[in-house]
Amino acid sequence: METRIAVCPGSFDPITLGHLDIIRRAATLFDQVIVLVVINPSKTPSFTPEERVEMIRKSVEGMPNVKVDAYCGLLIDYVREKGAVAIVKGLRAVSDFEYEFQMALTNKKMLPYAETVFLTTSTQNMYLSSSLVKQVAMFDGDITDFVPRAIYNEVRERLCKKQGGPQ
Ligand code: PNS
Repeated sequence: METRIAVCPGSFDPITLGHLDIIRRAATLFDQVIVLVVINPSKTPSFTPEERVEMIRKSVEGMPNVKVDAYCGLLIDYVREKGAVAIVKGLRAVSDFEYEFQMALTNKKMLPYAETVFLTTSTQNMYLSSSLVKQVAMFDGDITDFVPRAIYNEVRERLCKKQGGPQ
């Protein structure tokens, strides 16, 4: 039987509990999920692609059908290369919609057989974003409810000014 693969792309700078919830739910819908750290050369992320991949790997431990990878290029080229059938994205609020809709339509135009599947975020994660997590961590705020337990210390050590992070 055909293995139905989905790609879950993003910056993941860093992965949040919101991302993890979407990944977990995608893993119940598809045979295999590839969480893809998309490298955008025009962005200046806080964590290197290798660090982001490693943090995701730690967070998805125990999810046997979830893999992690990094890629620099057009998402649909990666999707085609892996024989994936879907791109999975999380939608938090109306504010996400226009940008995501535009990306989904562009990707559909370029690779018509691949569907973009939107999963609505769980209510407890509606407000979560990587950039907010970084702001809170930078000023020594509590990020327990925002990031996977497995990466809590690493995010704080890297970002918190009091813990020797960037000044
Ligand atoms: O976490 P983000 O920053 O919202 O993720 C956006 C991402 C990486 C999924 C998106 O920018 C993307 O797919 N980039 C890859 C380049 C590409 O394929 N661009 C055309 C899409 S319309």
